[in-house]
Amino acid sequence: MATRHPALSHDAVTLLMDDHSRVKRLFDEFRKIHLAGTSSALPGMADMLARKRDIVEKTCVELTLHMYVEEVIFHPEARKILNDEALMNEIEVQHTALRDLIDQIDEGDVDDPMICAMFMVLGQYADHNAKEEEREMFPIVRASSLDLDALGERMMTRREWLEREIGIDGPESQVPAAVMANAQRSWWDRIADFARG
Ligand SMILES: [Fe+2]
Repeated sequence: MATRHPALSHDAVTLLMDDHSRVKRLFDEFRKIHLAGTSSALPGMADMLARKRDIVEKTCVELTLHMYVEEVIFHPEARKILNDEALMNEIEVQHTALRDLIDQIDEGDVDDPMICAMFMVLGQYADHNAKEEEREMFPIVRASSLDLDALGERMMTRREWLEREIGIDGPESQVPAAVMANAQRSWWDRIADFARG
């Protein structure tokens, strides 16, 4: 039984939409800080860099966990219901592009303007992917006879187990330094490793 996010619904579609909103808030905050200034002469620049770094780390983990649970548990069920291979394939390709960008961002640091540019583009791609899922996939799944509460419970249980394995305490918490330091493997591979046990 999932207990770590008691305020959240266990309905599968609601869980995924909550993830989308949480990730969007992180991207919005990053964009606001980023556009506020890039000059190292600005007062508070070190704090801004630290916050940007924190947002990037959280977002990369959050987005990877979201896509992992979505791909492993939700998408196979959605594929059966939608009977729309073209859409599902398109969403899969979008996820691959997001994962590739996350890998590149993970190799750099926010004091590099190109890493910031990649993160801004990651936000645009993630937004496009979320909107496509919300407009074209979720309404059809919601209108089907699929038990969304049971599916949501499975997703929540898997997500919470992965969070525990990684060592984070819920969606808003800090990623442990030891996990961040293991940067020779992509986030996707690290999470897949945990999932394999
Ligand atoms: Fe999604």
